Amino acid sequence: MNNNLQAPLISSASAIVLRGVTKSFVVESQRVEALRGVNLNIERGTCVSITGRSGAGKSTLLHIIGTLDRPSEGSVTIGGIDVSRLSDQATSKFRNRKLGFVFQSSNLLPEFSAIENVMMPGMIAGAIGLQARQRATRLLASVGLEARIAHRPAELSGGEQQRVAIARALFMAPEVLLVDEPTGNLDKSTSLAIQDLLLELAVAHKTTMVLVTHDQLLASRMPSRIIMEDGRVLSGTGVSL
Ligand SMILES: Nc1ncnc2c1ncn2[C@@H]1O[C@H](COP(=O)(O)OP(=O)(O)OP(=O)(O)O)[C@@H](O)[C@H]1O
Ligand SMILES: [Mg+2]
Repeated sequence: MNNNLQAPLISSASAIVLRGVTKSFVVESQRVEALRGVNLNIERGTCVSITGRSGAGKSTLLHIIGTLDRPSEGSVTIGGIDVSRLSDQATSKFRNRKLGFVFQSSNLLPEFSAIENVMMPGMIAGAIGLQARQRATRLLASVGLEARIAHRPAELSGGEQQRVAIARALFMAPEVLLVDEPTGNLDKSTSLAIQDLLLELAVAHKTTMVLVTHDQLLASRMPSRIIMEDGRVLSGTGVSL
């Protein structure tokens, strides 16, 4: 058991701190510098958008903040914990307890119902039972899906699937919600409804949210904004670099 997860979080106003983060990939002896030294401080409870051209490094940055990938160099601290130093096992546990994810494709498990998908992070953490079921039901109601809890993903529309994914991301009351192009696959009105929902829920749950998007309207609705170019943060509004 890693002590880092047992210890109380170091009190800090910053939910996310990145120092000198680089990431390079090598494909067939060609080196790609996806991140070229990113420094970032995102305060607790901030909702921040990341925009920038295709290939700028947005998803790579989000994956590294989300502990889905490790930086080549530099440090990543989330809620006072230096996640770059956690073992693989501790990292999985940290991710399950502290982070929520919403991606362009909802990635729901096809053989499970909506409510089971929402409860899945709790099941992984060992919390199954009436309380978990009640929390999942409440979350599904908060995304307008109280009448769909027994539906499997194939029996839901794309927008409904994405709402289940949002409810699932919030199930563990994560400190940080990481969102990558949540409305990329949706029509305009569904997309607006999902955007409203994400912003409302992030504020209601006091969650720090980092959201990658190509949608300038959505980006402009976020109180803080980061623009990336060629593996670097070009500018930041409402965050310190
Ligand atoms: N696993 C990988 N292996 C090799 N190269 C990668 C890998 N992941 C990303 N890259 C490269 O790193 C760069 C940044 O990719 P990234 O996915 O972060 O871009 P992005 O800003 O999210 O773009 P988009 O807006 O198109 O989603 C790109 O040039 C990409 O080809
Ligand atoms: Mg991307």
